[in-house]
Amino acid sequence: MATAPPKGLLGRMSMRKSVEQVQRETQTSELKRSLGPWNLVLLGIGCIIGAGIFVRTGNAAALHAGPAVLISFVIAGIVCAFAGLCYAELSSTLPVSGSAYTYSYTTLGEFAAWIMGSLLLLEYGLAASVVAVGWSGYMVSLLGDIGIIVPATLTGPAGHLKELADGTTITTVFNLPAFLVCLALSLLLVLGVSESAKVNNLIVGIKVSVLVAFIVVGGIMILSNWSQFAPNWDPFIPEPTGEKGEFGWGGILRAASIVFFAYIGFEAVSTAGQEAKDPAKDMPFGIIGSLVACTIIYILVSIVLTLIVPYTDLNVPDPVAVAVDAFGPEWAWFAATIKVGAIIGLTSVILVLMYGQTRIFYTMARDGLLPRVFSRVHPKFRTPWVNTLLVGMIVAVAAGFFDINTLGDMTSVGTLAAFGIVCLTVIWLRTTHPEIPRGYRVPLYPVVPALGILSCFALIFTVETRVLIFFGWFVVGAVVLYFVYGMHNSELAKGHRVTDADDQLPIYPEDAPLGPDGKPVVRP
Ligand code: ALA
Repeated sequence: MATAPPKGLLGRMSMRKSVEQVQRETQTSELKRSLGPWNLVLLGIGCIIGAGIFVRTGNAAALHAGPAVLISFVIAGIVCAFAGLCYAELSSTLPVSGSAYTYSYTTLGEFAAWIMGSLLLLEYGLAASVVAVGWSGYMVSLLGDIGIIVPATLTGPAGHLKELADGTTITTVFNLPAFLVCLALSLLLVLGVSESAKVNNLIVGIKVSVLVAFIVVGGIMILSNWSQFAPNWDPFIPEPTGEKGEFGWGGILRAASIVFFAYIGFEAVSTAGQEAKDPAKDMPFGIIGSLVACTIIYILVSIVLTLIVPYTDLNVPDPVAVAVDAFGPEWAWFAATIKVGAIIGLTSVILVLMYGQTRIFYTMARDGLLPRVFSRVHPKFRTPWVNTLLVGMIVAVAAGFFDINTLGDMTSVGTLAAFGIVCLTVIWLRTTHPEIPRGYRVPLYPVVPALGILSCFALIFTVETRVLIFFGWFVVGAVVLYFVYGMHNSELAKGHRVTDADDQLPIYPEDAPLGPDGKPVVRP
């Protein structure tokens, strides 16, 4: 039966999809349950390892933490572990696709879901721009190695001063490679190219092999010439300069919010809830397993990076390749291999992030919170094509014109806020629905989710004030849009519900009769 929207603004803003309804949607899903625990770990690593370790670590070490960037990785990893445990509990309770947006819609209500949807635009859409800028750095460098020179003015954001190898300084106007890769990948997504589990596993293999090779070769080099490299760790924690977030412990925390970017993506595992063989057990394993594996890799990579190269030299677009260059000219082939591996890995992360963004918009459009055009499916390719082209354009323009540090900080802040809300959701659901069966329960409840909320918000406030102000305006814009558009178009408020996760299915009325196949019948 269609239900009348609750009275009063607050009642309206907190309208929820019921937990039972979401669980029913899962049971009617037609997706195949084919992913085991290790597939999920690989899925996580596929989304996690990208521009964070290949690019942003350099900036974090050079300008904020020095060699102590590895402590920043530990801190960011712990913050993610708190959020990861909360994701694991939610995903074992509500194993549906749609991720944090759906969790919020089911628990805190429509307004929170809307805000979560906006934060996910930073976590997925803007993150794709960051990775594209990282991709551009490695690509320009690789092309340079084989004699193809991209004009320097077309390799950076608008109005950015860039020092060239010959010592001259130019002002960049546009990051053309980053812009083009986003457009090209969005076209592939329109054609329905997304990564199969097999391709994902292959790409994870390439990314991890490249980093492990870097750790092993670099590690041997360091151990056999310890006296040459040890001075790079002296001082391990550089003296603070007096500016906010520049070295000392303040700098380590600031760097933690930067390298936090390197962990984004582990929660993508939770979007595969309907495809996991045994979601209750496999989801927590997938989330925490991929997080632990990446933390170990990141710490080892940053140890090698900061011992091989003085941290002051790491503020470059391709720090891992720069470190390999320092191995000596006979290792040029290895530097090229690293660049190719990074480019392949970063391409897949952009693809996965843009795919995630289009599916979030798609779900929001089906819920009526975004215009219906976002859920329009192409008759031949069966993909949400308008949505995908639009996402491609937004991501490409951001990647073309803005600098990686501003984009990356906005992504980190948005994601930290989203993680904070996820931790809050666990507390909310335990309090209001203690009876729901949970395949996995956060240990030491409520300490873990409470620490999750506190640590996410603490890291948010380490970023530059300028970025915090941007973020504030972004949230204000989102709130205004909810009252202007979302609230008036919500399907839930109209008494409709969405019954299936399959791409092609229309919205069914709540009281639709069931057909012979057991599915609701759409009336003309
Ligand atoms: N964690 C992903 C990366 O580092 C987003 O690129």
